Amino acid sequence: RAFFKPILNSAPPSPTKRHTKISVIGAGNVGMAIAQTILTQDLVDELALVDAKPEKLRGEMLDLQHAAAFLPRTKIHASVDYSITAGSDLCIVTAGARQIPGESRLNLIQRNLALFKLIIPPLARYSPDCILLIVSNPVDVLTYVAWKLSGFPPNRVIGSGTNLDSSRFRFLLADHLDVNAQDVQAYMVGEHGDSSVALWSSISVGGVPVLSFLERQKIAYEKETLENIRKEVVESAYEVINLKGYTSWAIGYSAANLARSLLRDQRKIHPVSVLATGLYGIDGGDVFLSLPAQLGRSGVMGVANVELTDWEAQQLRNAATTILEVQSQLEI
Ligand code: NAI
Ligand code: 2OP
Repeated sequence: RAFFKPILNSAPPSPTKRHTKISVIGAGNVGMAIAQTILTQDLVDELALVDAKPEKLRGEMLDLQHAAAFLPRTKIHASVDYSITAGSDLCIVTAGARQIPGESRLNLIQRNLALFKLIIPPLARYSPDCILLIVSNPVDVLTYVAWKLSGFPPNRVIGSGTNLDSSRFRFLLADHLDVNAQDVQAYMVGEHGDSSVALWSSISVGGVPVLSFLERQKIAYEKETLENIRKEVVESAYEVINLKGYTSWAIGYSAANLARSLLRDQRKIHPVSVLATGLYGIDGGDVFLSLPAQLGRSGVMGVANVELTDWEAQQLRNAATTILEVQSQLEI
């Protein structure tokens, strides 16, 4: 402070504007990709990192702090102790086991359930008003687990869900149509991963609905090409894991994008995992699945009233049945 001399007759500092804070739990590939994307986007005043490995955690913290001269000013701290997360607006959970090549996401459930029992209660205690954004896999089941363990209302517990699958879908469609992916609107919904459902009728480019355009122009429907694109989306993570061992950059951008919509009250629509019971005929228990949801400062503000074909709705219900079956075997 002594570094600066006060100017004559200056008023005392005005009350500081609202302080925003994100905590990222798990400083592995995914947690660090999310942390660095958040920093570059100037989203928060304070970023807290928690992991179970203190040396790795301190190394990651220092490495990020050393970029201070190139980044918006953000207080970064890290600890194995959850007290540093106190007062977070948003807690993003990425801790846990990841798939080895060829392994399914659902196979991770028992290992990551055990970790969530250690992670979620202290997060909820230190930041009782925060929004929880779950990224660890299997993300839909773990979002349900986090909801149960936190006791939070469902609008404040969100899974990153098919926001990532939808980005992969938009990239592949854009590549096929030779347009910018940001101009392609298209949703994948349902389970993140193996049984995700492509909403074909949702695809539009620059406001032009693609399927009806192709049909009107009597252009061959390209059903096979589109189905191949859907399969490629589902295979994407397996391919990247085979090639580099894990996925990180795309989920980093996906989660930071969700964080922006939530904390900046953007009210944008994202396909994310939300409590889907009662929607599209999904019943038989509480289940989190991705649907296009409006996100704002209070979390999930509502789910867009998208019209699904009978087949799409049936696929969603099938995913719900699979997930409910997995959940019925869990001791939470
Ligand atoms: P990683 O192995 O690089 O990192 C996991 C981190 O969790 C490690 O640093 C580990 O020390 C930490 N950890 C373990 N137990 C902990 C505890 N009790 N408390 C705090 N931290 C703890 O794994 P990676 O690649 O970062 O993946 C993390 C998770 O994210 C996996 O479950 C993976 O499947 C999932 N994932 C989800 C995506 C999505 O779209 N939902 C996309 C990519 C990965
Ligand atoms: C992904 O889709 C593995 O769930 C992770 O990248």
